[in-house]
Amino acid sequence: MTESITITDNRTGESVEIPILNGGVDSGGWAKLLGNVWFSDDAFSHTAIGESSITQIVGAEGILRYRGYPIEQLALRSTYLEVAYLLLFGELPTPDQFDGWRDEITHHTYIHENFRKRFMESFRYDAHPMGVLVSSLAALSTYYPEAKDIEDPEVRMRQIVRLIAKVPTMAAAAHRFSIGMPFVYPDNDLDFTSNFLSMMFRVAEPRYHCHPAVRRALEILFILHADHSQNCSTTTARVVGSAHADPYSVVAAACAALYGPRHGGANEAVLAMLRDIGSYENVDPFIADVKAGKCRLMGFGHRVYKNYDPRARIIKEAADEVFQLAGRSPLLDIALKLEEVALADEYFISRRLYPNVDFYSGLIYEALKFPTNMFTVLFAIPRTAGWLAHWSEMLERSSRISRPRQLYVGHPERDYVPMAERTPSA
Ligand code: SDX
Repeated sequence: MTESITITDNRTGESVEIPILNGGVDSGGWAKLLGNVWFSDDAFSHTAIGESSITQIVGAEGILRYRGYPIEQLALRSTYLEVAYLLLFGELPTPDQFDGWRDEITHHTYIHENFRKRFMESFRYDAHPMGVLVSSLAALSTYYPEAKDIEDPEVRMRQIVRLIAKVPTMAAAAHRFSIGMPFVYPDNDLDFTSNFLSMMFRVAEPRYHCHPAVRRALEILFILHADHSQNCSTTTARVVGSAHADPYSVVAAACAALYGPRHGGANEAVLAMLRDIGSYENVDPFIADVKAGKCRLMGFGHRVYKNYDPRARIIKEAADEVFQLAGRSPLLDIALKLEEVALADEYFISRRLYPNVDFYSGLIYEALKFPTNMFTVLFAIPRTAGWLAHWSEMLERSSRISRPRQLYVGHPERDYVPMAERTPSA
Protein backbone atom coordinates (compact mmCIF):
# COMPACT_ATOMS: atom_id res chain seq x y z
CA MET A 1 0.00 0.00 0.00
CA THR A 2 1.58 3.31 -1.03
CA GLU A 3 1.28 6.27 1.34
CA SER A 4 -0.47 8.47 -1.22
CA ILE A 5 -3.83 9.58 -2.63
CA THR A 6 -4.90 9.93 -6.23
CA ILE A 7 -7.41 12.58 -7.29
CA THR A 8 -9.07 12.59 -10.68
CA ASP A 9 -10.70 15.49 -12.49
CA ASN A 10 -13.71 13.74 -14.03
CA ARG A 11 -14.13 16.58 -16.50
CA THR A 12 -10.85 15.68 -18.20
CA GLY A 13 -10.09 12.20 -16.84
CA GLU A 14 -6.71 13.52 -15.70
CA SER A 15 -5.37 12.26 -12.35
CA VAL A 16 -2.59 13.18 -9.98
CA GLU A 17 -1.05 11.09 -7.25
CA ILE A 18 -0.04 13.03 -4.12
CA PRO A 19 2.11 11.47 -1.37
CA ILE A 20 0.85 11.52 2.22
CA LEU A 21 3.67 13.15 4.21
CA ASN A 22 3.67 13.91 7.96
CA GLY A 23 -0.07 13.18 8.08
CA GLY A 24 -1.05 15.48 5.24
CA VAL A 25 -1.16 15.96 1.51
CA ASP A 26 0.28 19.06 -0.09
CA SER A 27 -2.10 21.35 -1.99
CA GLY A 28 0.43 21.69 -4.83
CA GLY A 29 -0.78 18.52 -6.53
CA TRP A 30 -4.40 19.68 -6.21
CA ALA A 31 -3.54 23.08 -7.64
CA LYS A 32 -1.63 21.52 -10.55
CA LEU A 33 -4.60 19.33 -11.53
CA LEU A 34 -7.49 21.61 -10.63
CA GLY A 35 -6.28 25.18 -11.23
CA ASN A 36 -9.02 27.49 -10.04
CA VAL A 37 -11.09 24.88 -8.17
CA TRP A 38 -10.62 25.62 -4.45
CA PHE A 39 -10.69 23.09 -1.61
CA SER A 40 -13.46 24.35 0.64
CA ASP A 41 -13.02 23.75 4.39
CA ASP A 42 -15.25 25.79 6.70
CA ALA A 43 -13.38 26.82 9.89
CA PHE A 44 -10.30 24.95 8.63
CA SER A 45 -11.57 21.76 10.32
CA HIS A 46 -9.59 19.53 7.96
CA THR A 47 -6.84 21.90 6.86
CA ALA A 48 -3.24 22.09 8.10
CA ILE A 49 -1.90 25.64 8.13
CA GLY A 50 1.63 24.28 7.69
CA GLU A 51 4.29 22.19 9.41
CA SER A 52 5.22 22.77 13.04
CA SER A 53 7.62 21.08 15.47
CA ILE A 54 6.35 22.77 18.61
CA THR A 55 3.30 20.94 19.98
CA GLN A 56 1.81 17.59 19.09
CA ILE A 57 -1.80 16.70 19.88
CA VAL A 58 -3.26 13.26 19.17
CA GLY A 59 -6.92 14.08 19.69
CA ALA A 60 -8.37 10.55 19.61
CA GLU A 61 -5.96 9.43 22.35
CA GLY A 62 -5.92 12.58 24.47
CA ILE A 63 -2.18 13.08 23.90
CA LEU A 64 -0.47 16.48 24.29
CA ARG A 65 3.33 16.93 24.02
CA TYR A 66 5.49 20.08 23.93
CA ARG A 67 8.54 19.39 21.73
CA GLY A 68 7.96 15.66 22.38
CA TYR A 69 7.68 15.90 26.17
CA PRO A 70 4.32 14.62 27.56
CA ILE A 71 2.28 17.36 29.23
CA GLU A 72 1.79 15.12 32.28
CA GLN A 73 5.57 15.05 32.93
CA LEU A 74 6.03 18.78 32.32
CA ALA A 75 3.13 19.67 34.63
CA LEU A 76 4.60 17.47 37.35
CA ARG A 77 8.29 18.41 37.06
CA SER A 78 8.78 21.66 35.15
CA THR A 79 8.12 25.37 35.59
CA TYR A 80 6.41 27.81 33.26
CA LEU A 81 9.61 29.67 32.40
CA GLU A 82 11.38 26.40 31.58
CA VAL A 83 8.43 25.35 29.38
CA ALA A 84 8.47 28.76 27.65
CA TYR A 85 12.17 28.20 26.89
CA LEU A 86 11.39 24.69 25.58
CA LEU A 87 8.61 25.97 23.30
CA LEU A 88 10.77 28.78 21.91
CA PHE A 89 14.15 27.06 21.58
CA GLY A 90 13.09 23.44 21.10
CA GLU A 91 15.09 21.91 23.95
CA LEU A 92 14.99 21.92 27.76
CA PRO A 93 17.57 24.46 29.02
CA THR A 94 20.81 23.53 30.77
CA PRO A 95 21.29 25.18 34.20
CA ASP A 96 23.34 28.01 32.65
CA GLN A 97 20.84 28.49 29.83
CA PHE A 98 17.96 28.61 32.29
CA ASP A 99 19.74 31.08 34.59
CA GLY A 100 20.41 33.37 31.62
CA TRP A 101 16.80 33.04 30.40
CA ARG A 102 15.36 33.69 33.85
CA ASP A 103 17.58 36.77 34.33
CA GLU A 104 16.56 38.13 30.92
CA ILE A 105 12.85 37.77 31.72
CA THR A 106 13.24 39.07 35.28
CA HIS A 107 14.96 42.25 34.09
CA HIS A 108 12.24 43.13 31.59
CA THR A 109 9.18 42.93 33.85
CA TYR A 110 8.80 46.71 34.22
CA ILE A 111 6.47 48.69 31.97
CA HIS A 112 6.96 52.35 31.04
CA GLU A 113 5.34 54.62 33.63
CA ASN A 114 3.68 56.81 31.00
CA PHE A 115 2.30 53.69 29.32
CA ARG A 116 0.66 52.52 32.53
CA LYS A 117 -0.45 55.87 33.95
CA ARG A 118 -1.56 57.58 30.75
CA PHE A 119 -2.74 54.64 28.66
CA MET A 120 -3.62 51.63 30.79
CA GLU A 121 -5.26 53.76 33.46
CA SER A 122 -7.24 55.80 30.94
CA PHE A 123 -9.91 53.09 30.67
CA ARG A 124 -13.26 53.21 32.47
CA TYR A 125 -12.98 52.07 36.08
CA ASP A 126 -14.92 48.87 35.27
CA ALA A 127 -13.17 48.00 32.00
CA HIS A 128 -12.82 44.22 31.52
CA PRO A 129 -9.14 43.33 32.06
CA MET A 130 -9.06 41.40 28.77
CA GLY A 131 -10.17 44.50 26.88
CA VAL A 132 -7.43 46.45 28.64
CA LEU A 133 -4.83 43.76 27.90
CA VAL A 134 -5.68 43.42 24.20
CA SER A 135 -5.54 47.20 23.72
CA SER A 136 -2.39 47.59 25.79
CA LEU A 137 -0.52 44.93 23.85
CA ALA A 138 -1.20 46.77 20.59
CA ALA A 139 -0.27 50.09 22.21
CA LEU A 140 3.00 48.62 23.52
CA SER A 141 4.24 48.42 19.92
CA THR A 142 4.48 52.23 19.91
CA TYR A 143 7.11 52.08 22.68
CA TYR A 144 9.36 49.73 20.71
CA PRO A 145 9.41 50.90 17.07
CA GLU A 146 12.46 48.67 16.44
CA ALA A 147 10.06 45.71 16.70
CA LYS A 148 9.00 46.26 13.09
CA ASP A 149 12.35 44.86 12.01
CA ILE A 150 11.07 41.30 12.23
CA GLU A 151 13.80 40.02 9.88
CA ASP A 152 16.46 40.55 12.56
CA PRO A 153 16.60 37.52 14.92
CA GLU A 154 18.13 39.56 17.76
CA VAL A 155 15.40 42.20 17.49
CA ARG A 156 12.78 39.42 17.45
CA MET A 157 14.23 37.81 20.57
CA ARG A 158 14.35 41.16 22.44
CA GLN A 159 10.60 41.62 21.81
CA ILE A 160 9.86 38.00 22.77
CA VAL A 161 11.61 38.52 26.11
CA ARG A 162 9.81 41.85 26.66
CA LEU A 163 6.39 40.36 25.92
CA ILE A 164 6.79 37.25 28.09
CA ALA A 165 8.15 39.42 30.91
CA LYS A 166 5.68 42.31 30.65
CA VAL A 167 2.37 40.56 30.03
CA PRO A 168 2.04 39.48 33.70
CA THR A 169 2.83 43.05 34.80
CA MET A 170 0.23 44.46 32.41
CA ALA A 171 -2.31 41.82 33.46
CA ALA A 172 -1.85 42.60 37.14
CA ALA A 173 -1.92 46.35 36.44
CA ALA A 174 -5.28 45.96 34.66
CA HIS A 175 -6.65 44.05 37.62
CA ARG A 176 -5.39 46.47 40.27
CA PHE A 177 -6.81 49.41 38.31
CA SER A 178 -10.21 47.66 38.00
CA ILE A 179 -10.46 47.24 41.79
CA GLY A 180 -9.08 50.66 42.69
CA MET A 181 -5.91 49.32 44.26
CA PRO A 182 -2.49 50.89 43.67
CA PHE A 183 -0.20 49.31 41.07
CA VAL A 184 2.36 46.89 42.54
CA TYR A 185 5.81 47.04 40.96
CA PRO A 186 7.50 43.79 39.98
CA ASP A 187 9.62 42.20 42.70
CA ASN A 188 12.65 40.86 40.87
CA ASP A 189 13.69 38.72 43.81
CA LEU A 190 10.64 36.52 43.24
CA ASP A 191 10.23 33.77 40.63
CA PHE A 192 7.96 34.41 37.63
CA THR A 193 4.77 33.01 39.16
CA SER A 194 5.28 34.38 42.68
CA ASN A 195 6.04 37.81 41.20
CA PHE A 196 2.74 37.74 39.31
CA LEU A 197 0.88 36.77 42.48
CA SER A 198 2.66 39.60 44.32
CA MET A 199 1.62 42.15 41.66
CA MET A 200 -1.93 40.84 41.87
CA PHE A 201 -2.47 40.53 45.61
CA ARG A 202 0.16 42.42 47.64
CA VAL A 203 -1.44 45.07 49.82
CA ALA A 204 0.66 46.91 52.41
CA GLU A 205 3.11 44.21 53.44
CA PRO A 206 6.73 44.91 52.49
CA ARG A 207 7.04 41.61 50.60
CA TYR A 208 4.33 39.27 49.34
CA HIS A 209 4.53 35.68 50.53
CA CYS A 210 2.35 33.10 48.76
CA HIS A 211 1.55 29.62 49.99
CA PRO A 212 3.71 27.06 48.10
CA ALA A 213 0.59 25.08 47.12
CA VAL A 214 -0.96 28.22 45.60
CA ARG A 215 2.17 29.04 43.64
CA ARG A 216 2.51 25.43 42.44
CA ALA A 217 -1.13 25.24 41.35
CA LEU A 218 -0.78 28.42 39.28
CA GLU A 219 2.54 27.19 37.86
CA ILE A 220 0.82 24.00 36.68
CA LEU A 221 -2.00 26.01 35.12
CA PHE A 222 0.53 28.22 33.32
CA ILE A 223 2.34 25.13 31.98
CA LEU A 224 -0.90 23.56 30.77
CA HIS A 225 -1.99 26.74 28.97
CA ALA A 226 1.38 27.57 27.36
CA ASP A 227 0.64 26.16 23.91
CA HIS A 228 -1.85 24.05 22.01
CA SER A 229 -0.80 23.92 18.34
CA GLN A 230 -3.13 25.66 15.85
CA ASN A 231 -5.91 26.82 18.17
CA CYS A 232 -7.88 29.85 17.06
CA SER A 233 -5.63 32.43 18.75
CA THR A 234 -2.34 30.83 17.66
CA THR A 235 -3.56 30.58 14.08
CA THR A 236 -4.51 34.25 14.37
CA ALA A 237 -0.94 34.98 15.47
CA ARG A 238 0.45 33.13 12.48
CA VAL A 239 -1.92 34.83 10.03
CA VAL A 240 -1.23 38.35 11.35
CA GLY A 241 2.47 37.52 11.64
CA SER A 242 2.54 36.39 8.01
CA ALA A 243 1.82 40.01 7.02
CA HIS A 244 5.09 40.87 8.83
CA ALA A 245 3.32 42.92 11.47
CA ASP A 246 5.35 43.58 14.63
CA PRO A 247 5.09 40.98 17.46
CA TYR A 248 3.11 43.30 19.76
CA SER A 249 0.41 43.63 17.12
CA VAL A 250 0.59 39.87 16.51
CA VAL A 251 0.11 39.04 20.20
CA ALA A 252 -2.65 41.67 20.52
CA ALA A 253 -4.54 40.01 17.65
CA ALA A 254 -4.06 36.56 19.17
CA CYS A 255 -5.21 37.83 22.56
CA ALA A 256 -8.33 39.30 20.94
CA ALA A 257 -9.16 35.88 19.48
CA LEU A 258 -8.59 34.23 22.85
CA TYR A 259 -11.14 36.62 24.39
CA GLY A 260 -14.00 34.82 22.60
CA PRO A 261 -16.22 32.58 24.78
CA ARG A 262 -15.78 29.68 22.38
CA HIS A 263 -12.02 29.86 23.03
CA GLY A 264 -10.20 31.31 26.02
CA GLY A 265 -13.31 33.07 27.30
CA ALA A 266 -14.82 29.67 28.10
CA ASN A 267 -13.28 29.43 31.58
CA GLU A 268 -15.09 32.60 32.61
CA ALA A 269 -18.28 31.31 30.92
CA VAL A 270 -18.05 28.01 32.84
CA LEU A 271 -18.18 29.81 36.19
CA ALA A 272 -21.16 31.88 35.05
CA MET A 273 -22.84 28.66 33.88
CA LEU A 274 -22.20 26.87 37.20
CA ARG A 275 -23.55 29.86 39.11
CA ASP A 276 -26.64 29.99 36.87
CA ILE A 277 -27.27 26.28 37.46
CA GLY A 278 -26.90 27.05 41.14
CA SER A 279 -27.71 23.66 42.63
CA TYR A 280 -27.41 19.91 42.17
CA GLU A 281 -31.13 19.67 41.40
CA ASN A 282 -30.84 21.98 38.41
CA VAL A 283 -28.21 19.87 36.65
CA ASP A 284 -30.60 17.52 34.86
CA PRO A 285 -32.90 20.33 33.59
CA PHE A 286 -29.81 22.21 32.38
CA ILE A 287 -28.51 19.17 30.51
CA ALA A 288 -31.95 18.85 28.92
CA ASP A 289 -31.68 22.47 27.71
CA VAL A 290 -28.24 21.73 26.27
CA LYS A 291 -29.56 18.69 24.41
CA ALA A 292 -32.46 20.80 23.13
CA GLY A 293 -29.92 23.18 21.65
CA LYS A 294 -30.91 26.04 23.96
CA CYS A 295 -27.38 26.49 25.30
CA ARG A 296 -23.97 24.88 25.33
CA LEU A 297 -22.23 23.03 28.12
CA MET A 298 -19.32 25.43 28.43
CA GLY A 299 -15.98 23.78 29.12
CA PHE A 300 -17.06 20.73 27.11
CA GLY A 301 -16.12 19.76 23.58
CA HIS A 302 -13.05 20.35 21.51
CA ARG A 303 -12.20 20.52 17.83
CA VAL A 304 -9.28 18.15 18.24
CA TYR A 305 -9.78 16.15 21.44
CA LYS A 306 -12.44 13.52 20.89
CA ASN A 307 -11.38 12.11 24.22
CA TYR A 308 -10.74 13.57 27.66
CA ASP A 309 -8.53 16.68 27.35
CA PRO A 310 -5.38 15.57 29.23
CA ARG A 311 -5.12 19.05 30.70
CA ALA A 312 -8.58 18.79 32.24
CA ARG A 313 -7.52 15.61 34.02
CA ILE A 314 -4.40 17.27 35.44
CA ILE A 315 -6.35 20.38 36.48
CA LYS A 316 -8.97 18.25 38.21
CA GLU A 317 -6.21 16.60 40.28
CA ALA A 318 -4.59 19.98 41.05
CA ALA A 319 -7.99 21.30 42.11
CA ASP A 320 -8.20 18.77 44.93
CA GLU A 321 -4.96 20.10 46.47
CA VAL A 322 -6.11 23.70 46.18
CA PHE A 323 -9.51 22.94 47.69
CA GLN A 324 -7.82 21.21 50.63
CA LEU A 325 -6.12 24.55 51.28
CA ALA A 326 -8.81 27.02 50.22
CA GLY A 327 -11.92 25.04 51.07
CA ARG A 328 -14.13 23.11 48.66
CA SER A 329 -16.16 25.21 46.25
CA PRO A 330 -19.87 24.33 46.19
CA LEU A 331 -19.67 24.84 42.43
CA LEU A 332 -17.28 21.87 42.20
CA ASP A 333 -20.06 19.48 43.13
CA ILE A 334 -22.22 20.91 40.37
CA ALA A 335 -19.32 20.57 37.91
CA LEU A 336 -18.67 16.97 38.93
CA LYS A 337 -22.38 16.16 38.56
CA LEU A 338 -22.46 17.83 35.14
CA GLU A 339 -19.49 15.76 34.04
CA GLU A 340 -20.98 12.54 35.40
CA VAL A 341 -24.34 13.10 33.68
CA ALA A 342 -22.85 14.30 30.39
CA LEU A 343 -20.32 11.47 30.07
CA ALA A 344 -23.13 8.93 30.45
CA ASP A 345 -25.51 10.67 28.02
CA GLU A 346 -25.80 9.60 24.37
CA TYR A 347 -25.98 13.24 23.16
CA PHE A 348 -22.46 13.91 24.44
CA ILE A 349 -21.10 10.42 23.78
CA SER A 350 -22.24 10.44 20.14
CA ARG A 351 -20.64 13.85 19.62
CA ARG A 352 -17.53 12.83 21.56
CA LEU A 353 -17.85 15.77 23.92
CA TYR A 354 -15.59 15.65 26.96
CA PRO A 355 -14.39 18.20 29.51
CA ASN A 356 -11.74 20.47 28.04
CA VAL A 357 -9.08 22.59 29.70
CA ASP A 358 -11.63 25.25 30.68
CA PHE A 359 -14.09 23.06 32.54
CA TYR A 360 -12.25 22.95 35.88
CA SER A 361 -9.67 25.71 35.53
CA GLY A 362 -12.08 28.45 36.57
CA LEU A 363 -12.84 26.63 39.82
CA ILE A 364 -9.17 26.68 40.73
CA TYR A 365 -8.76 30.31 39.76
CA GLU A 366 -11.77 31.16 41.96
CA ALA A 367 -10.28 29.18 44.86
CA LEU A 368 -7.01 31.09 44.35
CA LYS A 369 -9.05 34.30 44.83
CA PHE A 370 -8.80 35.53 41.24
CA PRO A 371 -11.88 37.49 40.14
CA THR A 372 -13.82 35.85 37.28
CA ASN A 373 -13.01 38.66 34.85
CA MET A 374 -9.32 37.73 35.19
CA PHE A 375 -9.74 34.08 34.14
CA THR A 376 -9.10 34.61 30.44
CA VAL A 377 -6.22 36.94 31.28
CA LEU A 378 -4.74 34.01 33.22
CA PHE A 379 -4.98 32.00 29.99
CA ALA A 380 -3.33 34.78 27.94
CA ILE A 381 -0.29 35.13 30.22
CA PRO A 382 1.19 31.67 29.54
CA ARG A 383 -0.17 31.39 26.01
CA THR A 384 2.02 34.39 25.10
CA ALA A 385 4.95 31.95 24.95
CA GLY A 386 3.05 29.65 22.59
CA TRP A 387 1.94 32.50 20.33
CA LEU A 388 5.51 33.77 20.08
CA ALA A 389 6.98 30.30 19.50
CA HIS A 390 4.65 29.79 16.54
CA TRP A 391 5.29 33.33 15.27
CA SER A 392 9.06 32.66 15.33
CA GLU A 393 8.72 29.25 13.71
CA MET A 394 6.59 30.69 10.94
CA LEU A 395 9.09 33.48 10.18
CA GLU A 396 12.02 31.07 10.29
CA ARG A 397 10.27 28.86 7.73
CA SER A 398 9.87 32.00 5.58
CA SER A 399 6.17 31.38 5.01
CA ARG A 400 4.13 33.45 2.57
CA ILE A 401 1.37 35.88 3.60
CA SER A 402 -1.77 33.97 4.63
CA ARG A 403 -4.47 34.73 2.10
CA PRO A 404 -7.10 31.99 1.59
CA ARG A 405 -9.51 31.82 -1.35
CA GLN A 406 -13.33 31.75 -1.17
CA LEU A 407 -16.26 30.19 -2.98
CA TYR A 408 -18.24 33.18 -4.30
CA VAL A 409 -21.98 32.58 -4.02
CA GLY A 410 -23.18 36.17 -4.30
CA HIS A 411 -24.94 38.09 -7.10
CA PRO A 412 -23.70 37.79 -10.68
CA GLU A 413 -22.86 41.10 -12.41
CA ARG A 414 -25.70 43.66 -12.34
CA ASP A 415 -26.06 47.34 -13.25
CA TYR A 416 -26.32 50.26 -10.81
CA VAL A 417 -29.91 51.32 -10.04
CA PRO A 418 -30.62 55.03 -9.46
CA MET A 419 -32.04 55.73 -5.98
CA ALA A 420 -35.44 56.84 -7.33
CA GLU A 421 -35.94 53.55 -9.19
CA ARG A 422 -35.20 51.23 -6.32
CA THR A 423 -37.78 48.99 -4.66
CA PRO A 424 -37.28 47.35 -1.23
CA SER A 425 -35.34 44.13 -1.76
CA ALA A 426 -36.77 40.90 -0.30
C1 SDX B 1 -10.18 26.11 24.12
O1 SDX B 1 -8.42 24.69 19.80
C2 SDX B 1 -7.86 24.63 20.94
O2 SDX B 1 -6.84 23.98 21.12
C3 SDX B 1 -8.47 25.50 21.99
C4 SDX B 1 -7.93 25.33 23.40
C5 SDX B 1 -6.51 25.82 23.53
O3 SDX B 1 -5.78 25.35 24.43
O4 SDX B 1 -6.16 26.75 22.79
O5 SDX B 1 -7.96 23.94 23.76
C6 SDX B 1 -8.73 26.12 24.41
O6 SDX B 1 -10.65 26.98 23.44
C7 SDX B 1 -11.01 24.98 24.64
C8 SDX B 1 -12.50 25.08 24.15
C9 SDX B 1 -13.20 26.04 25.12
N1 SDX B 1 -14.60 26.32 24.60
C10 SDX B 1 -15.65 25.85 25.22
O7 SDX B 1 -15.61 25.09 26.20
C11 SDX B 1 -16.97 26.35 24.64
C12 SDX B 1 -17.94 25.19 24.49
N2 SDX B 1 -17.48 24.29 23.43
C13 SDX B 1 -17.87 24.53 22.12
O8 SDX B 1 -18.47 25.68 21.74
C14 SDX B 1 -17.23 23.65 21.07
O9 SDX B 1 -17.13 22.38 21.58
C15 SDX B 1 -15.89 24.11 20.53
C16 SDX B 1 -15.93 25.51 20.06
C17 SDX B 1 -14.85 23.98 21.58
C18 SDX B 1 -15.51 23.20 19.38
O10 SDX B 1 -16.44 23.43 18.38
P1 SDX B 1 -16.47 22.56 17.03
O11 SDX B 1 -15.31 21.65 16.95
O12 SDX B 1 -16.72 23.50 15.90
O13 SDX B 1 -17.74 21.63 17.25
P2 SDX B 1 -19.17 21.97 16.70
O14 SDX B 1 -19.56 23.34 17.16
O15 SDX B 1 -19.17 21.67 15.24
O16 SDX B 1 -20.05 20.90 17.48
C19 SDX B 1 -20.21 19.60 16.98
C20 SDX B 1 -21.52 19.14 17.63
C21 SDX B 1 -22.69 20.11 17.42
O17 SDX B 1 -23.88 19.35 17.52
P3 SDX B 1 -24.74 19.02 16.15
O18 SDX B 1 -24.83 20.33 15.37
O19 SDX B 1 -23.89 17.98 15.45
O20 SDX B 1 -26.04 18.51 16.63
O21 SDX B 1 -21.34 19.09 19.06
C22 SDX B 1 -22.21 20.03 19.67
C23 SDX B 1 -22.64 21.02 18.60
O22 SDX B 1 -23.89 21.59 18.91
N3 SDX B 1 -21.42 20.69 20.71
C24 SDX B 1 -21.89 20.98 21.91
C25 SDX B 1 -20.81 21.56 22.60
N4 SDX B 1 -19.74 21.60 21.80
C26 SDX B 1 -20.14 21.08 20.62
N5 SDX B 1 -23.10 20.81 22.47
C27 SDX B 1 -23.23 21.23 23.75
N6 SDX B 1 -22.22 21.78 24.48
C28 SDX B 1 -21.03 21.97 23.92
N7 SDX B 1 -20.04 22.52 24.65
